[in-house]
Amino acid sequence: AVSVLDAEAPTLFAGGGKPVSKEVTVLYGSQTGNAQKLAEKAGKALKERGFEAKVSSMLDFKPNELKKVETLLIVVSTHGEGDPPDNAVSFYEFLHSKRAPKLDHLRFSVLALGDTSYEHFCQTGKDFDKRLEELGGTRFYPRVDCDVDYEEAAAKWLDGVLGELSKQANANGGTTPLLSAVAAAPKAEPAVVYSRKNPFLAEVLENINLNGRGSNKETRHLELSLEGSGLKYEPGDALGIFPKNDPELVDLVIQEMKWNPEETVTIDKDGEVRSLKEALTSHFEITVLTKALLQKLAPLSKNSALQELVAPGNEAKLKEYAKGRDLLDALRDFGSWDAAPQQVISILRKMPPRLYSIASSLAAYPDEVHLTIGAVRYESYGRLRKGVCSTFCAERIHIGDTLPVFIQPNPNFKLPKDPSTPIIMVGPGTGVAPFRAFMQEREATGANGKSWLFFGDQHFVTDFLYQTEWLAWLKSGVLTRMDVAFSRDTEKKVYVQHRMLERSKELFGWLEEGAVVYICGDKQHMARDVHQTLIDLIEKEGGMSREQAEAYLTEMQKQKRYQRDVY
Ligand code: 2AM
Repeated sequence: AVSVLDAEAPTLFAGGGKPVSKEVTVLYGSQTGNAQKLAEKAGKALKERGFEAKVSSMLDFKPNELKKVETLLIVVSTHGEGDPPDNAVSFYEFLHSKRAPKLDHLRFSVLALGDTSYEHFCQTGKDFDKRLEELGGTRFYPRVDCDVDYEEAAAKWLDGVLGELSKQANANGGTTPLLSAVAAAPKAEPAVVYSRKNPFLAEVLENINLNGRGSNKETRHLELSLEGSGLKYEPGDALGIFPKNDPELVDLVIQEMKWNPEETVTIDKDGEVRSLKEALTSHFEITVLTKALLQKLAPLSKNSALQELVAPGNEAKLKEYAKGRDLLDALRDFGSWDAAPQQVISILRKMPPRLYSIASSLAAYPDEVHLTIGAVRYESYGRLRKGVCSTFCAERIHIGDTLPVFIQPNPNFKLPKDPSTPIIMVGPGTGVAPFRAFMQEREATGANGKSWLFFGDQHFVTDFLYQTEWLAWLKSGVLTRMDVAFSRDTEKKVYVQHRMLERSKELFGWLEEGAVVYICGDKQHMARDVHQTLIDLIEKEGGMSREQAEAYLTEMQKQKRYQRDVY
């Protein structure tokens, strides 16, 4: 197959020996690695079609270069309240600032990744799309917004983009049809490649509760076997799991609608069929109610209240209703229904996999992957709600069972290449997971860099996750320092950032020595507060202004010395 490529290559330079291939810049902003993966895929496909593709993270791209770019593809995800991923922030701010150049010469297309259960769905992608046009660029192919189940939509976008670019290149006497033959040429691939599309069934070797009796929390430690899968990962990567819905909840939905659980339904475009019960258990999301889902349900309801709720002008009410409720609530609140199982199945979202930061290193546990999963349970509108995957693992997964899994690489959360670089790890609660992997890796590889862990949780006695392991690493010197904050053992709450401030002088010293800072865990409160604390302590210990301290942290981020894995 490779020889076909070689043989065909000269046709690229048809017509007076002048290269007809065009340069395409592909920029990605990626938090979990999906956008990066798609950007790289686009780069590869472009190259196969005779284009010269330059794929780069927005962080590594020099904004001045933008003036020289003729064709730009943007692949970017959105997080939280419509925020760009960490490695997109500086480019995003540059483009939206007065320094942004005129881009009349530019043609572009945007692929936006997001999650429809969030208010600001695909906001970052939308912002780039709008801004590039404002600056004078030409949108040669329309933006595509993807939900968590992004693969199909992303593939369509790429096909469309490639089609359009090839057409334009051909119009300029460009690429030949032979090139598509090259692209279609079969490649030698290993027998089975496990991926998100084709998950590996991993056997459960261990599943225990890390919290002691009387704790408010239940944190599961899972050990899974990757034997025979060929799957590899690095510390910092995540594992994707496809969970099953709570069977009690599935039964309640079916009873509410007076459906027959054994009725056959089609679950995808290829016509795969399952029983209704199996479809609702394993293939569709039933625990997240979105505005989009309510709008699609409305025509099936005989209750005018739902039609009213989804009518234009009632967006605020609709959003308020959806929050904290699930499919079952809507089915109960807006009956009666004129809906066959298939009609409802067809409007549900595919069950998205859940990602967990891996808590082990292959160097220490070959063929295994360990996870630290906090069971999510809370009450809302009079019913106990359960996190789908976390309670699936806590309540219904036992040793010997198998779980469908895949590796989700995270290039933005990696140990420094130089084993002597000091690292500072901030990981309260389940956020500590990747740092267990870091320590295992550094121990197994004999890395000699200093390391410092900030850990916090509610109570010392019941919630000190992996306590004996940290103590052993402290003793052996793999871990240099550890500071802990148990928030509910004292009258006044102490959090990891308080410990960081108490040690600010020494911590700043580590930063000056080139330490890499990692934060993992809760995004909304913890990561934000720790970020502010870092700026505070840089300001104080570095004798800097606020602006200088912020610039110091931004510079660290550019040098990949400030990395976050937050959720
Ligand atoms: P709390 O539950 O007592 O509020 C892990 O969940 C630890 O993170 C807990 O000790 C929790 O404390 C703490 N935590 C909660 N909010 C935080 C914040 N904004 N910053 C740092 N830690 C926080």
